[in-house]
Amino acid sequence: MPGDRPGPGQTLPRTVFIKTYGCQMNAYDSERMAGLLAAHGYARTEAPEAADLVILNTCHIREKAAEKVYSELGRLNVLRRARRAAGADMILAVAGCVAQAEGELLAERAPQVDIVVGPQSYHRLPELLARRARATGAVIDIDFPAERKFDELPQPDQPSPVSAFLTIQEGCDKFCTFCVVPYTRGAETSRPVGEILAEVRRLVAGGARELVLLGQNVNAYHGEGPDGRIWSLGRLLRMLAELPGLFRLRYTTSHPADVDDELIAAHRDVPQVMPFLHLPVQSGSDAVLRAMNRRYTADDYRRVVGRLRAARPDLALSSDFIVGFPGETDADFAQTLALIREIGFAQSFSFRYSARPGTPAAGMGKQVKAAVAAARLAELQALLEAQAAEFNRRSVGLVVPVLLERPGRHPGQLVGRTPWLQAVHVAAPGLTIGSLVDLRLVADHAHSLAGRLPAEPEEVSA
Ligand code: SAH
Ligand code: SF4
Ligand code: F3S
Repeated sequence: MPGDRPGPGQTLPRTVFIKTYGCQMNAYDSERMAGLLAAHGYARTEAPEAADLVILNTCHIREKAAEKVYSELGRLNVLRRARRAAGADMILAVAGCVAQAEGELLAERAPQVDIVVGPQSYHRLPELLARRARATGAVIDIDFPAERKFDELPQPDQPSPVSAFLTIQEGCDKFCTFCVVPYTRGAETSRPVGEILAEVRRLVAGGARELVLLGQNVNAYHGEGPDGRIWSLGRLLRMLAELPGLFRLRYTTSHPADVDDELIAAHRDVPQVMPFLHLPVQSGSDAVLRAMNRRYTADDYRRVVGRLRAARPDLALSSDFIVGFPGETDADFAQTLALIREIGFAQSFSFRYSARPGTPAAGMGKQVKAAVAAARLAELQALLEAQAAEFNRRSVGLVVPVLLERPGRHPGQLVGRTPWLQAVHVAAPGLTIGSLVDLRLVADHAHSLAGRLPAEPEEVSA
């Protein structure tokens, strides 16, 4: 009867809400988890209060990111109580890098959590949910299992976004002294080329026109090729560019010390490889770079950028910066500003150093005072914002190919991206999502540009 609870043998329709923090690899993992759970009868919901299962896919990179999880868990507990009062339930799962880093501690600090699952164990979620149904305390799985999560996760069968993420490499062996990633994501591993190709074909068939290849250290990629040899990222990009239907290739995040000749040659020879590179330098001071264990000097960075720009003169760069690393002096900071002025960045992400438990830098002497670090960050961000604004301003008037990715906020409006990752808003009849069109950039706003068809008369541009 309608309204009755399903009898034995029938499954209840169930819903899952997933909230993602942190990097694009977490965003990719969330989609994979959603795909896996869909195969087990969970429909995705955007309303946590209506969810039978809530997954927080968390980030541990800075203290603020990690702390957000606990406040969110507090809010969710209130929703869960309301659901329980109404005769339903809510399973709370914490996934991602906080789960991996804190494990048991997380379950102790937030006893309302039912499942703690590390980034390498997502394929075991259905089993963990079944175990949770039988257990009383939290179920914790933060192993780095021998079986590989990518083998186990089913391919989601939804349409693909126009610009699709695809993780090709995971983990990191660099051990920068400030960073938790080598501990939360484990050792560097690369997916085999054949497996990547199969997923790319599925994404393209689902409508993807751009691929963003992901890895914590993506240009350290060394996957097994179909010829049994180890392929580099440059080689992989060349092969993917041969696939029909793919207009654009991007990859992130790269480490300056792992930019090799094959990668530079791919930027020179392969038009699908976009002239935009996120290449975090972190600092312009050799003393700080050494203390960070970054494995390059400021001059090494200048040289790599010089070689990339020689190969692809219109290459634009973005970077991450950390200010207030232990021991950073005014002179060190001045060198960072000088490097920024010299290189010129189209986009940037900058952070105040955050001491992370268990990392070598957290135990270093000479921690920089909070007020000093805050002042440096403000100065750095003012310079970076001015550079980003200048980069957009200089684009006005150009006609550039824009890949249309999604509807805009206004009726009839579409949003796309230039090769340099700038967002462009356009309203013109006949344009479709997924197409690549030449647009004239006519106006720049704080974080985006307006575009119109090159043949449109001036008056229409407002
Ligand atoms: N693999 C990438 C970075 C991944 S983490 C690379 O090597 O560049 C993303 C960014 O977070 C880093 O580039 C760094 O700028 C910042 N970050 C990492 N740990 C941090 C910490 N402890 N405090 C402040 N920022 C940090
Ligand atoms: Fe972290 Fe350094 Fe690895 Fe980047 S390269 S993930 S900053 S350890
Ligand atoms: Fe954060 Fe983990 Fe990514 S710590 S940045 S979610 S790899």
